Amino acid sequence: AGSLQTVKKGKLIMATNAEFPPYEFHEGDDIVGIDAEIAGEIAKKLGLELEIEDVAFSAVIPEVISGKADMVMAGMSVTEERKQNVDFSKTYADTVQVIIVKDNSDIAKPEHLEKKTIGVQEGTTGAILAEGVKDANIESYNKGVDAVQSLIQNKVDAVIIDEETAKALIKDTSGIKILDTAFAKEEYAIAVKKGNKELLTQIDKALAELESEGKIKEIVKKYIKA
Ligand code: ARG
Repeated sequence: AGSLQTVKKGKLIMATNAEFPPYEFHEGDDIVGIDAEIAGEIAKKLGLELEIEDVAFSAVIPEVISGKADMVMAGMSVTEERKQNVDFSKTYADTVQVIIVKDNSDIAKPEHLEKKTIGVQEGTTGAILAEGVKDANIESYNKGVDAVQSLIQNKVDAVIIDEETAKALIKDTSGIKILDTAFAKEEYAIAVKKGNKELLTQIDKALAELESEGKIKEIVKKYIKA
């Protein structure tokens, strides 16, 4: 691993959007969360120092394409469209998109979203799902937490976002709830610049080791209470 070429010598630069608890979020001056900790463990195995670049979610893929970051780790779901632009590691977690509504909402299932105003985080798979809803009006936010804030203020009727993030974002708020959906399962993986086989191989190897060591489970447990 010592000879691994990265953007900055001796560093592993991770592009993320730290507005996505429990995967990456700000805690004081630090960026913490499941992804941040797994990335730290990967860096350690590669003999590199982790550096986190916090940018808008829609800017994380451009960071690796332009060669400013080595990898994206951002609770990012693998999609066919993204595969055109980056290469993905093995997956390390999965999720489903859920709908957050007010307790007294008339929305009880995805079909009820028709003609409603839906809040999403820009550039996410939740936004793509919202775009597929007939006659819906979409409000796009920089941060998922702002979409939830708008829901509380009745500026949107629903928010579509990843399940664990939904739970984390509403945990201290009363009057809103999460609706289960049958949206397709999504898988989180790390993305690297297309063709960066050397780094991808090392990341996959590190992820496989962390998995067999039980380290991933341990990190997840720390942030997601069963
Ligand atoms: N899983 C969703 C996607 O891939 C949302 C990810 C948002 N991540 C973030 N760090 N804000 O589009």
